[in-house]
Amino acid sequence: MRTLVIGNGAREHALAFSLSNDPAVTEVHVAPGNPGIGGVATLHPAVKGEDAAAVVALATELDADLVVIGPEIPLVAGVADALRDAGFAVFGPSGSAARIEGSKAFAKGIMASAGVKTAHAEAVGPGATEEEIAAAIDRFGPTWVVKDDGLAGGKGVVVTPDRAAAIAHVHEVHAAGNPVLLESFLDGPEVSLFCLVDGDTVVPLLPAQDHKRVRDNDEGPNTGGMGAYTPLPWLPADGVQRIVDEVCIPVAKQMVAEGCPFSGLLYAGLAWGADGPAVVEFNCRFGDPETQAVLDLLTTPLGGVLAAVANGTLAELPPLEWEDGYAVTVVLAAEGYPENPVTGAPISGAGAGDETRGVRAAGVAEKDGVLVASGGRVLNVIGKGATLVEARDAAYAELATIDLPGGHYRSDIGLAAVEGRIAVPE
Ligand code: GLY
Repeated sequence: MRTLVIGNGAREHALAFSLSNDPAVTEVHVAPGNPGIGGVATLHPAVKGEDAAAVVALATELDADLVVIGPEIPLVAGVADALRDAGFAVFGPSGSAARIEGSKAFAKGIMASAGVKTAHAEAVGPGATEEEIAAAIDRFGPTWVVKDDGLAGGKGVVVTPDRAAAIAHVHEVHAAGNPVLLESFLDGPEVSLFCLVDGDTVVPLLPAQDHKRVRDNDEGPNTGGMGAYTPLPWLPADGVQRIVDEVCIPVAKQMVAEGCPFSGLLYAGLAWGADGPAVVEFNCRFGDPETQAVLDLLTTPLGGVLAAVANGTLAELPPLEWEDGYAVTVVLAAEGYPENPVTGAPISGAGAGDETRGVRAAGVAEKDGVLVASGGRVLNVIGKGATLVEARDAAYAELATIDLPGGHYRSDIGLAAVEGRIAVPE
């Protein structure tokens, strides 16, 4: 199977690495990729994921059997549709189905029709007056959830007990020309559950938890994600099945009923409150950084799994198999991330071909034969172990061998779970 992965982050590095380990996969290509992925895939740096014509041309040149689209922007822009129209098997939803991430109003409508629990939400457009903004703010709180209603890759949300900070974020989003979504705050520990979806067939992967704030103890601004662990020792034994039954299957069925069936990876971001799981948001693609940890425990060859979704045969796929134990992934970020990431610092102790050490590269470029930071989240390191403690120790021990001047990472990924500080409300 000749495979082409679209995207350039650590998530795409993880996808490419897992595909390269599938005996049925003969070729792995990534476009545009990053130089850290070059050990397991042929890179096509000139092809940007949002450029549907260029992606179709590359898939044609490679005679690709399977195209896997990583990020949301090409999915929302309809790149999967262009590939399907050209006859390719694609892992990733149509532009119409990708609205589950691209349009929060669409997602809320699907959830309302499907009877799925989620936060109450209200949109405030860029034309709103100061009085209208203040009135809307006062219908929410005392913890405010202020979201950029455009595609923000998980970075456009501010959760704050500070009314002035909430209003400041409304202004910031409006200044960029986007509407704001105010949401009621959902209490309870967060869960990321990724489901393979093919129409109304839903197959869950292992549940994971992301750490979105930049600093230890969930302090500082939100980021794209600073680390994750999987599975979740504190989740009730029937937790995944409840999320599938109460959230993912009803949503998948509703999308079929509305004429926009989902095919690809449906990411349910949830808070587990006193009434069980409630949806914080949906994404139409694998999450980053959770994917890096989740895929590292998957032993079923990935190419066949993704091809089953792309070819509409997910219902016939045998049950997925997983390694026992835990995986933890920690993000090494550039100085100044998330506000003003500093680029150009050299990375020592990690390079292309370090996948078995757990390294997955994201914001990296090559300069004079070495990798340098070129983005906010620079790379991930994954550790695995029989226990969450061992997995954490493995990840942090490997990270200690890598140096990025000015770089920073959280030291508490998975720690609250290890210390028994996470519990679902009764
Ligand atoms: N883990 C956050 C995201 O992928 O959006």
